[in-house]
Amino acid sequence: MTGRTLAERRSKVLGPAYEHFFDEPLHLVRGEGVWLWDKAGRKYLDCYNNVPSTGHCHPDVVEALSNQAATLNTNTRYLHEAIVEFGEMITAKLPEGLDVCMLVCTGTEANDLAVQIARHVTGNYGAVVSEASYHGNSDLVLKLSTDVYPVEERPDWLAVTEPPNLYRGPFTRADDGPGAGYMELARRELDALGARGHAPAALLLEPMWESNGPMVAPADYPKALCDEVRARGGLIISDEVQAGYCRTGKNWWGFQHYDIIPDIVTCGKPMGAGHPLAMVATRRDIAEKFARKYSYFNTFAGNPVSAQVGKAVIEVIDGEKLGENCENTGNYFNAELAKLQEKHDLIGDVQGRGLFYGIDLVTDPASKTPFTRDEIRHLGSLIVDEGVITGTCGRYGQVLKLRPPLVFSREHADIAVAAIDRGLTRFAAERGGS
Ligand SMILES: Cc1ncc(COP(=O)(O)O)c(C=O)c1O
Repeated sequence: MTGRTLAERRSKVLGPAYEHFFDEPLHLVRGEGVWLWDKAGRKYLDCYNNVPSTGHCHPDVVEALSNQAATLNTNTRYLHEAIVEFGEMITAKLPEGLDVCMLVCTGTEANDLAVQIARHVTGNYGAVVSEASYHGNSDLVLKLSTDVYPVEERPDWLAVTEPPNLYRGPFTRADDGPGAGYMELARRELDALGARGHAPAALLLEPMWESNGPMVAPADYPKALCDEVRARGGLIISDEVQAGYCRTGKNWWGFQHYDIIPDIVTCGKPMGAGHPLAMVATRRDIAEKFARKYSYFNTFAGNPVSAQVGKAVIEVIDGEKLGENCENTGNYFNAELAKLQEKHDLIGDVQGRGLFYGIDLVTDPASKTPFTRDEIRHLGSLIVDEGVITGTCGRYGQVLKLRPPLVFSREHADIAVAAIDRGLTRFAAERGGS
């Protein structure tokens, strides 16, 4: 069966809503650590996938999964040690006071439940997100995902803040006190929300503003925004679906970079290293107020197999010191990407921390005109051809997204940077540049 034939069958049976990442669909058949192999036996360095946080097919995770799958799989309505132990392991990673962990299957479910809880507990209905946000795809959470639907369909209960992009936002590194500038804009949006008759139930914070391309915000902005939302009666939900689980370095959670203690923390993707496992962690008083009115059941979430996987993932991250690796390799990767920026005019900016970077690509550094989504997708295809898998994000789709499994080493960073260098050189040549 050729790749093309499979692609045609895929599009026929799954329908037209499903995209491919690259010009030519990749047909992957095996993974190990940071490496992936396609059907033809070609090996690629994975510089994009955060879901296999511990690396593709980590033997400890696979063993935990298969042992439990061969023994028993039920649900959270029965007692099971692994479920409780997993919850205890997660809450041990959170600040004191966030000691209740509700289990769900996806990031969408986590944010959906978190907002339902916030609305119930505060009695408010509004929500605060940023431009080009993505928090998931249920009816409720899609409305919080400003990246994916037209502006004119935004509900009146939504306040949308400007992402603190210090490269291409209204306040940059060149300005004094950019955090105060972004706060002023946020206050205006919150006032406008109030004028539409809504107080915020919650701010959904993306600690890296991931969909915009990972960002390092002005140090004072996130906390000031949280304080302002709290003063207006809202809770703080830190959406750690991408930023959590040591993605940003030694800190287990993204919010820890900003001196914030959220009321609710949601996470998903990296928790099961490929197995559908997600959570809503919160304070006991919040969980109790919610439970006085509602019970919660989720058939698959936190079943014994998922719980064993979740435990194994945390044990691997701790045992292999992947947080420290993320910090150390990340600093090296960041420095190498800065060198690459000096070499290529097409790179307007590199932002990120830990093992999460975005390369903002511009047709011209002076105007900061962004490349289009399709152009970056083509660049990604050239880089795949050079043996490295990257992704795309950004408000205009202009950001090359680098977010590898946490087992990424300096040697892997060198391979990735060299492939991106060659890909950019080809891309520039195709456009008639050097
Ligand atoms: C920040 C963030 N939150 C939530 C989600 C939704 O997670 P899921 O796809 O598991 O529903 C995503 C998915 O990309 C995400 O990036």
